[in-house]
Amino acid sequence: MSETILEVHGLTMDFGGVRALNNLDLDVRSGEIAALIGPNGAGKTTFFNCLTGLYLPTKGDIFLYRRDKDKKISLKGLKPNKVTEHGLARTFQNIRLFPMMTVLENVMIGRHCRTKAFVIGAFFRGPRTRREEEEIIEMSHRILEKVGLSRFENDFAMNLPYGAQRRLEIARALATEPVLLLLDEPAAGMNPYETIELVNLIQEIATDGQSILLIEHDMKLVMSLSDRIFVMDYGKKIAQGRPEEIRLNPAVITAYLGEEVDA
Ligand SMILES: Nc1ncnc2c1ncn2[C@@H]1O[C@H](COP(=O)(O)OP(=O)(O)OP(=O)(O)O)[C@@H](O)[C@H]1O
Ligand SMILES: [Mg+2]
Repeated sequence: MSETILEVHGLTMDFGGVRALNNLDLDVRSGEIAALIGPNGAGKTTFFNCLTGLYLPTKGDIFLYRRDKDKKISLKGLKPNKVTEHGLARTFQNIRLFPMMTVLENVMIGRHCRTKAFVIGAFFRGPRTRREEEEIIEMSHRILEKVGLSRFENDFAMNLPYGAQRRLEIARALATEPVLLLLDEPAAGMNPYETIELVNLIQEIATDGQSILLIEHDMKLVMSLSDRIFVMDYGKKIAQGRPEEIRLNPAVITAYLGEEVDA
């Protein structure tokens, strides 16, 4: 069995009187595609916001295992940029790109979190800075090719078709070389053709060894891509298991009453 890379214990998040996350346990294993599903308002995005340092959880623990460094890192309470440095990268439910920057620049920004040249280099452009900059550009080209956006690299992000903007967000996240990639509804708003392309891309990224945790409403996508699925309702985990187990789980069927689980 593969190793755990993310471990979450008893995560709870209160907003005033609203308990958006209620004692949630979840783990992600190295190399797997895990999915987090649940009805609207279940707390899925809140969970990502807690993982990535946008929200400070009311209770609970978040650990990231960096086996390559022989480290167990507690992410709770860290600022978003620190969380990214440790190896969690994400995309957003509502696309967040730099619209007036080029596609290439949007990816380069993701990469800059791994280099020291960014801040200092803005003032003193020495040979080391230039070399790092060249490496960043080269890597960004590779990633853009991977996600199929090379032909757009000099276009402003805002001018890309919608599906391509979503893929650019994934490219920017990949540029941080994450241990775990978090995708919040990557297929939202996509047409069927774009969705198929996205499924292929996610599969390809996973084949490269990238561990992925994705939130998604498209059941067909979730069922076909995921190794394991976690189901939330009202801030609580109500089920977890392989797609075929989740499809038959009575609690899940009840939570999705009126919706297609076995799409
Ligand atoms: N910053 C906030 N302040 C107050 N309440 C919040 C905040 N963020 C989320 N909530 C509440 O927490 C609950 C969970 O919201 P969340 O956005 O995490 O759900 P979700 O599962 O991602 O839903 P969707 O599928 O619609 O994206 C909701 O009741 C929401 O109103
Ligand atoms: Mg959400």
